[in-house]
Amino acid sequence: MTNHGWILERRPVEKLDSDCFAWREVALPAVGPGSVRMKTLMLSLDPTNRIWASPVESYLPPVPLGEVMRGIAVGVVEESADPRWKAGDLVQGMLGWQERVVVPGAALNGLPPGVTPEQWFAVFGHIGLTAYFGLLDVGKAEAGETLVVSAAAGAVGSLVGQIGKNIGMHVVGIAGGAEKCRWITEDLGFDAAIDYKSEDVAKRLRELCPAGIDVDFENVGGEIMDACLGRLALRGRVVLCGMISQYNATGAPSGPKNLANVLMQRGRIEGFIVLDYLPRAGEAFGKLGEWLAAGKLQYATDVVLGLEHAPAALDRLFSGANRGKLMVKVADLP
Ligand SMILES: NC(=O)c1ccc[n+]([C@@H]2O[C@H](COP(=O)([O-])OP(=O)(O)OC[C@H]3O[C@@H](n4cnc5c(N)ncnc54)[C@H](OP(=O)(O)O)[C@@H]3O)[C@@H](O)[C@H]2O)c1
Repeated sequence: MTNHGWILERRPVEKLDSDCFAWREVALPAVGPGSVRMKTLMLSLDPTNRIWASPVESYLPPVPLGEVMRGIAVGVVEESADPRWKAGDLVQGMLGWQERVVVPGAALNGLPPGVTPEQWFAVFGHIGLTAYFGLLDVGKAEAGETLVVSAAAGAVGSLVGQIGKNIGMHVVGIAGGAEKCRWITEDLGFDAAIDYKSEDVAKRLRELCPAGIDVDFENVGGEIMDACLGRLALRGRVVLCGMISQYNATGAPSGPKNLANVLMQRGRIEGFIVLDYLPRAGEAFGKLGEWLAAGKLQYATDVVLGLEHAPAALDRLFSGANRGKLMVKVADLP
C-alpha cells in the first residue's frame, strides 16, 4: 500500500507556503499491538500550523524538518490491533498531512454518532472547545455584558459571538470586509460588526460599546487588540486566544500602546491553549450539541478538495479568504 504526505522541508521566513513542503512517499509500518491504521478523510488547516512549522518552541515542539507536517485530521479506521477501535470507526487525532498513518489507538478520539467530519471540525473538536472554554471559563462571560470578538467571521470567532448571544451578551464582531460583517450580523445574530478594513476600529468601539468592553475575545492581536485594550471596561477581561496578525511577522512586533487602560480598569489579560481543556471536553459537547440542534449555533465551512492543495490553501487563513472553518477533504467517507 503506497502512502503520500507533505514533508516539512524548510522553515518559513514569512508565509508558510508551498515552497516549505515536498510531496513524498511515506512508509507505513505494520499494525502492531495497540496500534491502528487510519485513512485520512478530512484535514483541519489552522493558523497554528504556521507556529508549529517555525523553529521556536511553543506549546508543542516545532515539527522537525524532514518529517510529515503535523495536522489534526478525521480519519476512518482501516485495520486495528487496539480493542477500542474497529474497521470503519470515524476518529480524530494528530494524523498529519498524509493519506494514511499508523498510530497508537490511545491517541485517537471517536466522533460522536451522526456527526460528520465537517461538523466535527466546525462545531465540536478543537474549534468548539476553544470558543466554549475561552469565552465561558477564561473570559468568565456573563449575561448583560459586552463582548467584542476579532476574526469574528472565522471558525472560532463565529462560534464565540453566537455563544455570547446564547448566554445573553451584547456582541460586537470585528471582521474584514462588508460581506463578512453582513454575515455575522444578519445571519448569526451579532448585535453589530466593525469592518476593520474600512472603518476606524477605536472610533467604532467607542460608539458601539459606550460602557466599555467586558470581554475581548482576542484572535488577532496587534492594532485591533490595542484598540480593544483602550476600550476595556472596569474589571474587563481579555481572552488571549490568538494573534494571527503576528504569526507571519519577520521582525519584533510593536507593543500595545493602551496597556495603561488595563491597569486603570483593573483588567486581566489571560492566554490559554485549548489542549488544557481536553479532559473537560464532555461539558462543552453537551451544550454545543444542544445549541446546534436548537438552531442556535450556525457554522460555515470552507472545504478545499484534495490533499495536494493543503500547502497553498493554508494562506486562506492569513488573507482572510476563508469564512468559517477551513479544512481539506482528503478522501470520501467509505
Ligand atoms: N488558544 C488556542 O488554543 C487556540 C485554538 C484555536 C485557534 N486559536 C487562534 O484563534 C484564532 C482564530 O483561529 P481560527 O482557526 O478560527 O481561524 P479563522 O478565524 O477561521 O481564520 C483566520 C482569520 O483571521 C483573520 N485575519 C488573518 N490575518 C489577519 C490580520 N492581519 N488582521 C486581522 N485579521 C486577520 C481573517 O479574517 P478577516 O477576513 O476578518 O481578516 C481570517 O479569516 C487564531 O489566532 C488562532 O491561532 C487559538
